[in-house]
Amino acid sequence: MRLPFEIRNPSLLDELVPYVVATPFNLPQLNLNPFGVPTLPEHVIDPLRLDSETFLTLLQRLDGLTFGPEGMPMPRWVFYDCAELPGAIYGLARPAQTLWPRARDLFRVPDDYQGLVPVSMYVAIPMPKAGMWFGHNLSSLAPVFEQEQVTDLDLRGLGSLTKGLALKAFQVQEFWGATQWLSKALYIHVKFGPLNLSTAWTPAHSESETLTYGFRVTDEALRASMGDPTVTLARPAPDFWLDGHDQKGMIALQDRIEAGERFVIPESPRPVAEGGVRVPITRVA
Ligand SMILES: CC(C)(COP(=O)(O)OP(=O)(O)OC[C@H]1O[C@@H](n2cnc3c(N)ncnc32)[C@H](O)[C@@H]1OP(=O)(O)O)[C@@H](O)C(=O)NCCC(=O)NCCS
Repeated sequence: MRLPFEIRNPSLLDELVPYVVATPFNLPQLNLNPFGVPTLPEHVIDPLRLDSETFLTLLQRLDGLTFGPEGMPMPRWVFYDCAELPGAIYGLARPAQTLWPRARDLFRVPDDYQGLVPVSMYVAIPMPKAGMWFGHNLSSLAPVFEQEQVTDLDLRGLGSLTKGLALKAFQVQEFWGATQWLSKALYIHVKFGPLNLSTAWTPAHSESETLTYGFRVTDEALRASMGDPTVTLARPAPDFWLDGHDQKGMIALQDRIEAGERFVIPESPRPVAEGGVRVPITRVA
């Protein structure tokens, strides 16, 4: 499979196939051919059916392998109540027959299973305004596979490609998300363009060091996220930098947001030598 534009790692679409989890009620609202990448009918998983059980169990294992170390694995009921039923899941997978042996062990794939094994997923939930969605979960096994030496395949860009195709598949126009200042995923989220900050310190979340962000979804933003070198998004210069461990700085920024000032994260964080990151912040009119 090929996209009609250049992406960071085209081999991903040669080695992996897309899947979608959605109920028959939500499915008609989705684009199963985002940017011309087809999701085969047999790769659409209906969470209301018994024969989806093994795939959904493997999806939960994917979540455990990626979010477990972050301390935020999803209970199964959260998958059902907050993802499969109200929203949708899009991701890339490998047929069990061609799965790498080490991955088969990590996933504990049943010997007689012939279906797909998910290696990435993007979960999002629609909000009441048409076209507005909340991104609930992004998982990519690329870093785990590299660490565990599961395969020689180059899986660089898997997380970014998955989120970019998923937002197109879900036909998102306005995107909202929440992540932690130190999350590696922030490197991915800023690829879509400057992120509008709604919170910088979020005690309503189980991790107060969470930021709430949003952006308008355009084809340019999606192409940029997947690594199309022909797209250049406008990015204002940073006014200051926030250390990813600086709780006082987060609270001060939150106070300014609540007082009516508006800020964006204009570009990628910068790693710092001692560990962690500095995140650029720009005040906007
Ligand atoms: C976060 C996660 C999705 C990333 O998946 P991935 O497949 O490695 O993502 P990608 O390769 O598409 O993108 C990662 C980007 O981060 C960049 N990055 C990561 N660590 C970096 C560092 N220390 N310094 C600079 N850039 C860094 C990579 O260079 C890459 O950007 P590039 O494509 O411009 O080079 C994956 O690690 C994961 O599932 N983590 C656990 C769950 C989680 O935290 N999810 C996010 C919740 S909001």
